[in-house]
Amino acid sequence: MRLPKQGKSWPQIEAEMTSRGANDAKWRDGKTAVYVFNAGEEIAEVQKKAYAAFMSENGLGPLAFPSIAQMEKDVISMALGLLHGPEGATGAITSGGTDSITMAMKTARDYARSRGHSGPANIVLPQSAHLAFDKAAHLMDIEVRRIALKSDDSYQADPDAMREACDSKTIMMVGSAPNFPHGIIDPIDALGEVAQSKQVWLHVDACVGGYFAPFARMNGVPVPAFDFDVPAVCSMSADLHKYGYAAKGASTVLFRSEDLYAHMPFDLDGWSGAPMKTPTLAGTRPGGAISAAWAVMNYLGEEGYKRLQGQVCATREKIQEGVKALGFDVLGNPMLGLMAFRHPDLHSFAVYGEIYRRGWFTSVTKEPPSLHLMLSPRHADVADAYLEDLAAACDAVRNGQAAKKKQVEARYS
Ligand SMILES: Cc1ncc(COP(=O)(O)O)c(C=O)c1O
Repeated sequence: MRLPKQGKSWPQIEAEMTSRGANDAKWRDGKTAVYVFNAGEEIAEVQKKAYAAFMSENGLGPLAFPSIAQMEKDVISMALGLLHGPEGATGAITSGGTDSITMAMKTARDYARSRGHSGPANIVLPQSAHLAFDKAAHLMDIEVRRIALKSDDSYQADPDAMREACDSKTIMMVGSAPNFPHGIIDPIDALGEVAQSKQVWLHVDACVGGYFAPFARMNGVPVPAFDFDVPAVCSMSADLHKYGYAAKGASTVLFRSEDLYAHMPFDLDGWSGAPMKTPTLAGTRPGGAISAAWAVMNYLGEEGYKRLQGQVCATREKIQEGVKALGFDVLGNPMLGLMAFRHPDLHSFAVYGEIYRRGWFTSVTKEPPSLHLMLSPRHADVADAYLEDLAAACDAVRNGQAAKKKQVEARYS
């Protein structure tokens, strides 16, 4: 496309955008269980209005926009209230999980340097941890040591093996709450003991669980300690744009203390312009992403999140029972909104292709090959339809019909 000579009218543009969206995944119908967190139209409306209200404001300028600065402080304070942040704990809003993880790693590295660490650095993490850590490590030239999970089918990080992998150059250990591929919470307590004995920074990646697990726990789910309650946890990533139901482009990176946080901001001078202090990598920070997160949190409150997360857990339990009845094995003991499952006789990627042909945009896990779901409140309405289509997809694979069709590529992105 080239820039049109003459601009077009909004109705024309709107119509074109609608038609362009026609081939996208049908997430509004609840037929997508990856990428989108669908808590319904009412919350979408709050997101849109709150985003639009501050979409031109810039979080780069807290003096110009004290409103945005205060909303960010409020969001961080609400997050720390949910995640047992001790007195003095603090953090910042970033653009997403990858951004939060990158900033936590940069902070851990600079903290290590401040304590005399020099030369090559490494991080030690379970094989199931998100690739965002590798991306950040690539940017900062840090070695990544991915360690096999426990061999007991729990799909959890192996604290002993991670202990073995740590050395004097380790600047961070990682646990997930939960991990993305299996939806399982790592034994953060045990990782904390290792981190403490090795004197290594422990980061908990709660991008998915940060705004889910606290409410699941309030609803009676026996979620083990995973947050700042574990004394060794130095930092956490928790995404507002996932189960916080905020508009996309919003996550939180949180630190146990001001002293740790102090290694995150960039306070720079040495150019022609005025000195500049930014808490995160971004310069311009979209006011709308901050205001939308603030608004949704205030709109839902504790009761709203408890209701939605309860609905998601109930749907997961229903689907869990349903897939077991179809002969699938569920991986580990999922407690939140993610799950992965595989069939002893049918190849998961073939079943994935068949379920995709039936209009479902879901995901897969590679180790071991499994079907993957990340559930939203909206899925309560479509769980039965999904299970019916899954049964039909299994039949198609069993009868060899799937093999005759073009295979669908199973990718995260
Ligand atoms: C556990 C976990 N960590 C980190 C991320 C990265 O988040 P983002 O896609 O917002 O960068 C994800 C994304 O799904 C995730 O599931």
